[in-house]
Amino acid sequence: MLENLTALPADKILALMAKYKEDPRTDKVDLGVGVYKDASGNTPVMRAVKEAERRILADQTSKAYTGLAGDPAFGTAMRELVLADSVPAERVAAVATPGGTGAIRQALELIKMAAPDATVWLSNPTWPNHPSIIKYLGMKMAEYRYFDEETRGVDFDGLMADLDGIAAGDVVLLHGCCHNPTGANLTLDQMDQVIAKLQAKGAVPLVDIAYQGFGDGLDADAVATRRIASSFDNVLIAASCSKNFGVYRERTGILMAVAKDADQKALAQQTLAYLNRQNYSFPPDHGARVVTTILTDPELRADWEAELEETRNGMLALRQQLADELKRLTNSDRFNFLADHRGMFSRLGTSPEKVEQLRAEHGIYMVGDSRMNIAGLNAKTVPILAKAIVDAGI
Ligand code: LMR
Repeated sequence: MLENLTALPADKILALMAKYKEDPRTDKVDLGVGVYKDASGNTPVMRAVKEAERRILADQTSKAYTGLAGDPAFGTAMRELVLADSVPAERVAAVATPGGTGAIRQALELIKMAAPDATVWLSNPTWPNHPSIIKYLGMKMAEYRYFDEETRGVDFDGLMADLDGIAAGDVVLLHGCCHNPTGANLTLDQMDQVIAKLQAKGAVPLVDIAYQGFGDGLDADAVATRRIASSFDNVLIAASCSKNFGVYRERTGILMAVAKDADQKALAQQTLAYLNRQNYSFPPDHGARVVTTILTDPELRADWEAELEETRNGMLALRQQLADELKRLTNSDRFNFLADHRGMFSRLGTSPEKVEQLRAEHGIYMVGDSRMNIAGLNAKTVPILAKAIVDAGI
């Protein structure tokens, strides 16, 4: 049987991670996988997470199963965090999932069940696992333009023109904030125009929000998602806790389905629970319990929000430092987009050959499409990266 397998293409982000590990150079710089790192290159366990874990360890009396949708308290806490009061709770079905990827996978499975002929539209570019899972599930897929290679901002005219091609019932995947891989984001005014277009076309939005709190702030980053949620009968929202709670390996995420009314919500809830059962039965609980503990305890929540703000401001400072350094070295404003981008990533906008040159000559690792993890930098490595960018003639 196993001889029938054929080698699969490696995930480019994970392949880069392995390559970095093998590199013996001590001054190498990892700007690959989207994991937050502090100034010493560590990915710390957040203070509130440590304290929540301590409490859970002390108080937990059972590891018996929760429910197929996970602990309902997690669903409530996450709905409030992401959606606030934009949609009534009676319209929101929710299941805990193994990370944001699990939420995306379950969302796509739900779409496959409910709308097997729908085409799923993705920004070009998008997180590479989006098209990978869609392809794996044998679903129809199309792309809309997103990134302007010249300005390194959003190609809004291209995006709107391409969305003219969507058919009624198609699904359009939108990044809630902090676009991965580009770092370029729609303004709220542009998002309103996208919403109007999707409404006119009868499309269903699927929002991937994996970096809430990494861009402009916890609430500011959710505004677009909330507007989308309140503008349609049906919206799917995949939210990840990996980054903003730093619980990557705990696999903590949620899929929410905004339904037209309470009856439709009940049907969606039952279907989501069924999908969990088919794929892995009960979702992981530990990370979800940590998140719920933090979100429902005012003291822990305040500490978590404060640490998340430190993280966010640290990334903004690195962005500014890099843009300033490149301005100084090139005597031009052409790298200012780095300070305008938001979230963990920026797409530098250069060729795979130049990216390889940065790796080979300077030990600087970024994804082949020139996506850089800004959080992989620190005050000392910013000037090194800036000089390498200039030396490589980018
Ligand atoms: C990334 O884009 O680097 C992260 O979302 C991690 C991953 O799973 O790819």
